[in-house]
Amino acid sequence: MAVALVTGGSAGIGQATALELAKQGIGVITTYRSHKSEGDDTIAKIEAEGGTATSLPLDLNDIAGLDDFVSQVRAELAIRWEGARLDYLVNNAGVGGPAMFADITEEEFDRFHNVLFKGPYFLTQRLLPLLADNGAIVNVGSSSALPSRVSAGYSAYAAAKGALHTVTGFWAKELAGRGIRVNTVAPGATRTRISDDAFTKMPELIPAIAEGIALGRIGEPEDAARVISFLLSDSSAWITGQVIEVSGGERL
Ligand SMILES: NC(=O)c1ccc[n+]([C@@H]2O[C@H](COP(=O)([O-])OP(=O)(O)OC[C@H]3O[C@@H](n4cnc5c(N)ncnc54)[C@H](OP(=O)(O)O)[C@@H]3O)[C@@H](O)[C@H]2O)c1
Repeated sequence: MAVALVTGGSAGIGQATALELAKQGIGVITTYRSHKSEGDDTIAKIEAEGGTATSLPLDLNDIAGLDDFVSQVRAELAIRWEGARLDYLVNNAGVGGPAMFADITEEEFDRFHNVLFKGPYFLTQRLLPLLADNGAIVNVGSSSALPSRVSAGYSAYAAAKGALHTVTGFWAKELAGRGIRVNTVAPGATRTRISDDAFTKMPELIPAIAEGIALGRIGEPEDAARVISFLLSDSSAWITGQVIEVSGGERL
């Protein structure tokens, strides 16, 4: 059985990705940070459909804790998957929300930087010995880091996502010798509980956002999950080092 690690599987895009991969018979290790019971729900849904999955705690803001997390992943692979390697890694977990340049504190800046860039960067590095040759990595970036997408309040968030976009080609080049492909999806506005659950708390924001999207609606988690799944699969065997926008045509 192939095995995937999907960070941030207790909600949104990560949860939808975990469910999508499990539907295809892939074993899933997923993570939660503060919502353990939602992480457990993801696992229960997968197991109810006959899949195999487990959920581990992970805080990407705690860079010093990454080695312990990797040890836990190694242990889960040994216990549940007979010591198999990870075929797929999805660096999805993240935090969002506006923080104006004039007001952002160094602590807030560091949180964006750690959770969205430094954490995934060193997590991926530490996982390299556990990754199978000919496997695949997908990072979840953001359309906010694409050219001409300037939104007030997103300088620290978009800069961290832009860094993740930038390393995509470098990782792809350095890992190509092992046959490992690396791509990034850059979602546009997607209905998840990002930004303190803003889409649920302020649904009146949605029509205005949808107006700026060619296909006329905001994204659903499954829209991104299906593309992530494609980029992990052999159907995308000739795609590596790319940043792929998944936004329904934002600002076209
Ligand atoms: N939704 C959008 O409009 C949108 C657009 C562009 C890009 N994205 C990106 O898509 C990815 C998934 O976000 P989402 O929209 O699905 O958001 P979400 O519904 O809020 O889910 C975020 C996930 O990340 C986990 N997480 C939060 N802080 C973490 C930390 N410090 N360490 C480890 N895990 C942490 C959460 O765990 P707990 O809930 O257990 O704390 C949750 O599983 C993020 O990288 C986000 O930046 C989202």
